[in-house]
Amino acid sequence: MISNLIPKGLYTFHRGIAVEARGPFLKTQEGETLLDLTSGLGVLPLGHGDPRIWEAISHQAQRLVHQCSHVILHRPYLELCGRISRAVPMEKGAKVFLCNSGAEAVEWAIRVARAATGRPAVVGFHGGYHGRTHLTSTLTGRAKPYRKGGQPLAQDVHHIPFPYCYRCPWGRSPEGCAQICREGLERFFLVERPPEEVAAVVVEPIQGEGGVVVPPSGFIPWLGQVCRENGILLIVDEVQTGLGRTGPLFAIEGEGVEPDIMILGKALGGGIPLAAVVGRGEVMDSVPPSGFGSTFGGNPLGCAAGCRLLEILEGGMVPDAPKRIEGLISKRTEIWRAKVEWLGDVRGRGAMWGLELVEDREKKTASPSLARRLVQKCREKGVMVISGGLYRNVVRLLPPLSMSQEEMGLALDKIEEALGEIP
Ligand SMILES: Cc1ncc(COP(=O)(O)O)c(C=O)c1O
Repeated sequence: MISNLIPKGLYTFHRGIAVEARGPFLKTQEGETLLDLTSGLGVLPLGHGDPRIWEAISHQAQRLVHQCSHVILHRPYLELCGRISRAVPMEKGAKVFLCNSGAEAVEWAIRVARAATGRPAVVGFHGGYHGRTHLTSTLTGRAKPYRKGGQPLAQDVHHIPFPYCYRCPWGRSPEGCAQICREGLERFFLVERPPEEVAAVVVEPIQGEGGVVVPPSGFIPWLGQVCRENGILLIVDEVQTGLGRTGPLFAIEGEGVEPDIMILGKALGGGIPLAAVVGRGEVMDSVPPSGFGSTFGGNPLGCAAGCRLLEILEGGMVPDAPKRIEGLISKRTEIWRAKVEWLGDVRGRGAMWGLELVEDREKKTASPSLARRLVQKCREKGVMVISGGLYRNVVRLLPPLSMSQEEMGLALDKIEEALGEIP
């Protein structure tokens, strides 16, 4: 019995046991073949079992499986750091520290920001998601299930509203808004902590777990400007949006903002646990010698896979593949929006989309139960999706960037059938 082995707290969206997978198709022990529109939760841009990644891992496995970066550095570690440093939209000379998971990288980024500024406070956003460790669940902007029961939470971590335009926290419509969401940070400085006590603002360019919330254009550049004017570091969490998920290699590209620190994870190791903190040289160097460390961080297999992945993404896959998927999804969801009364909003970029489900379009009453039913119905049709969102009413689509037009069309046909059978 699974429940005798696995704690209740590990919630699994889908029943069954995965046994093998290729491309977007995943087989279960129970004999199903499912179209995996989660990409292992945003981890596999090339889908499952890409032979080029497999080859990079097996080639490396025959040479060096593990070495701790404290003991001696290895070639794939340095090669990946070099590739990342050249790829990020930051001034030349960005330095990179490799670790194991997105949450760990967020922890490190905050450690770096506090060391670099000598300031204590950190600001995140309502609905933001940054992981489940003590500090990152504190930074995550949703009480249940992330923060509840974790008290005492980490100190000096604060939240301000995110520009969730479909449910504007200030009750404005996009037409009459004038970006009132800027008030969130301004009020925070006025009421909670003055800017000179704030080390960093941590932001996702598009909130993922929070419900695929895309901020209005102009918001991120403004945030960058306020940070710069006040000596606050801008930490951009690209764990989910990075590496081509939203179109460009990094979602922050094109915003005209240079982050002080970027956080990468998920796709970075080609399926092997790997994450990175990337920062301006002098910012990263504010952590004293021996301050950084991680026994497994920057594992040779993950680094080799990451190098190969970046080569493929930069070698022409990005931004074409995610843009192609964006075209297919946005065209189809436009039809759904016109037909399905309970589809309140559709948002996304590239291969990262959210369908926000409501009981009533006018009142926008969030419906987590419709989201659960749609996830279930899609599964019955052979498509694996998950839900999320601040109100748990957003069905999320995170297909591999490598999905062909036919595979994507098939997946969308199945979701359409599922939509037609509810309620
Ligand atoms: C934006 C963001 N940051 C951090 C994390 C945490 O990453 P991990 O689960 O690898 O710790 C996630 C995971 O979903 C994420 O989406």
